[in-house]
Amino acid sequence: PIYKGSMLKQPGWFVTGYKEAALILKEPSFFTRIPLPRSTEKYGHLKRAQSKMMLYMNNHDHRKLRLLVNKGFTPKQVEEFKPLIEKITHSLLDELIVKKEFDVVSEFAFPLTSLVIATILGVPEEDRKRFRVWASALLQSIDFSRSHKTLEESDRLIGELNDYFTLVIDKKRKKPCNDLISKLIKEEDKITNEELIATSILLVIAGHETTVNLISNTVLAFAKHPAQWELLKSDSSLVAPSIEEVLRYESPTQLTARVAMKDTEIAGHQLTSGDQIYLMLGAANRDPEVFEKPNEFIISRKSIPHLSFGMGAHFCLGSTLARLEAQAALAALLQRLNTYELVSNQIKWRKLMGFRSLEQLRIK
Ligand code: HEM
Repeated sequence: PIYKGSMLKQPGWFVTGYKEAALILKEPSFFTRIPLPRSTEKYGHLKRAQSKMMLYMNNHDHRKLRLLVNKGFTPKQVEEFKPLIEKITHSLLDELIVKKEFDVVSEFAFPLTSLVIATILGVPEEDRKRFRVWASALLQSIDFSRSHKTLEESDRLIGELNDYFTLVIDKKRKKPCNDLISKLIKEEDKITNEELIATSILLVIAGHETTVNLISNTVLAFAKHPAQWELLKSDSSLVAPSIEEVLRYESPTQLTARVAMKDTEIAGHQLTSGDQIYLMLGAANRDPEVFEKPNEFIISRKSIPHLSFGMGAHFCLGSTLARLEAQAALAALLQRLNTYELVSNQIKWRKLMGFRSLEQLRIK
């Protein structure tokens, strides 16, 4: 469940067991989240933004910011987006199903998630294309396989996003609307301008690519398991459990990291304060101690307590929204496509370590 190894020449503990990963996630004061890379003066934009993102904050500062931003992501708030999500999903499919074949990633999942996040944040529709470029490139930067070159590129993009949101926030300060950024501006005694910019950047990255991956991985999983697709067609109440099973089986987030803040023992191994820990969420989701037949895709499982959204203090803030988007996408596909198949069996995954992300997925 835990072993010592190294990643990018940095030594660290790799946690693959469900119980051990959950234990670490639930103890944020013993195992904290620290942005990487740690020991360099470079990448100023990236570091400045990360230092104000809740993902990398701890204790009081984290709770304060999370509580505030969470107001935009409560189940009640998110439910209000349901008609919009369903409308976008169907209008995209109106155009796609008449084609001989289409790419699920770029023509379906991306336009859907970027329109939703842009609407929530309240940015002009014409800026969505830039969101896509930013989000896609930035995923590379928070991935663990990143190189000096990708970090430099990310630093530049974060700089661009910083300038972009500075302008957006300025405009909204003068002319507020009913979107999340305008609502957060009103709370200016509780959130600084830098935190507001960093939060907007975080939501573009966190709320975008991972959901694209969840939707695309869902389409792939069913294409590879036609009997499960038939089962879903016979019982549409399995839409929500199907998305949970995809989250478990092809977890969009495969890996997250923590640093030990004190000496401690885990599963018989002695960890020392300062040790780097990699939590292999994708592996934990296939721990045979927790999941029967872990390597099989079974949408009718009784319970699917996956760790794909993390756990504890940093549990994904957008999980309700991500679930709603993916369920709406699957329900619409189920309704509009009786059957579908992959154009090619050669599946191309992006070369990322922390994310399970398809390059493209053409179906017909
Ligand atoms: C945190 C996964 C969608 C916003 C997280 C974490 C995971 C995760 C694993 C915790 C990281 C850690 O503890 O180290 C996912 C997956 C998604 C998804 C798999 C889609 C399938 C979204 C969406 C949003 C979002 C749609 C917002 C629009 C956030 C934020 C955090 C977070 C703000 C940081 C929470 C905190 O630090 O308190 N996500 N996420 N995510 N996610 Fe998501």
